[in-house]
Amino acid sequence: MKIQNVGVVGCGLMGHGIVQVAAQGGCNVVALETQQEALDKGIARVEKSLAKLASKNVEKGKMTADQAAAWQTEVRGRITPSLDKGDLANCDLVVEAIVENLDVKKSLFSELGGICKPETIFASNTSSFPVGEMADASGRKDRFIGLHFFNPVQLMRLVEVVRTDDTNEDVFAAARAFGEACGKTPVSCKDTPGFVVNRLLVPYMVQAIQMLDRDDASKEDIDAAMQLGCGHPMGPLTLTDYVGLDTTLSILEGWVERYPNEPAFSIPASLVSKVKEGKLGRKTGEGYYKWEGDKKS
Ligand SMILES: NC(=O)c1ccc[n+]([C@@H]2O[C@H](COP(=O)([O-])OP(=O)(O)OC[C@H]3O[C@@H](n4cnc5c(N)ncnc54)[C@H](O)[C@@H]3O)[C@@H](O)[C@H]2O)c1
Repeated sequence: MKIQNVGVVGCGLMGHGIVQVAAQGGCNVVALETQQEALDKGIARVEKSLAKLASKNVEKGKMTADQAAAWQTEVRGRITPSLDKGDLANCDLVVEAIVENLDVKKSLFSELGGICKPETIFASNTSSFPVGEMADASGRKDRFIGLHFFNPVQLMRLVEVVRTDDTNEDVFAAARAFGEACGKTPVSCKDTPGFVVNRLLVPYMVQAIQMLDRDDASKEDIDAAMQLGCGHPMGPLTLTDYVGLDTTLSILEGWVERYPNEPAFSIPASLVSKVKEGKLGRKTGEGYYKWEGDKKS
């Protein structure tokens, strides 16, 4: 089972990156959006990123200027922008990267189940929802997987490949091979909350926030401790500001509701109050730190 024709639904922050790495990996890609403006924005991001990569390759002497231009044209030529779900009918794989709302995702997969050929594999890039619930809605439980890419997709080397109890072995193997074709290292995981990365990372961020809320240490010292003591590129409170306090809270709320007996899933008081005040992290200029663009002020 070889994945050659891919559909990506949603061309936002994650979707445009998935479109790009799939096309770089040699797949033909339909990039689907609901609005022309969002589609144009996503494709423009892909083109900008391809241009940057091409000029880096020239700088490093890996390609001549002509080769780089031809490579860019070839990769871009594999991408078909679309607003019509019917264009996904013959895809071998459709990857969903739309808004993190389970009902919206379920209704999309239920609709796609009636549009795509029976062999089409469906994948969700969800960060926090059970893959199995979307698989049920799609009407093809055995051909459904989680493909969890990381932000920014073009740079991050991991993809988590998530299987449910019903996922067919060949489908799973094909999805892993697709991840490799995209230039990523796939890791396999069962359909568990947060898969591997977020299951470890989000409770770690919660512990850091609770440490700050208890006044055990300052935010600067907590962050410096993890950077200098563990070699992390940034500390947990800076990381929370990067991820977004609203995103972090919404993941935790979903988990606490679904898994009330899991002690690792709890919601720190300051996270709730900051989100209420609109302090969502770097994107709003304040979270646990104050920000001016990419820099702490
Ligand atoms: N942002 C991250 O760091 C990150 C990391 C890993 C996974 N994810 C997951 O990836 C998914 C997408 O997140 P994002 O950050 O790219 O969001 P985003 O808001 O940047 O992009 C979502 C895009 O989907 C489009 N869209 C919404 N409904 C659609 C539909 N029915 N059909 C076609 N397009 C539709 C929107 O117009 C938007 O452009 C979410 O499930 C999120 O949890 C996000």
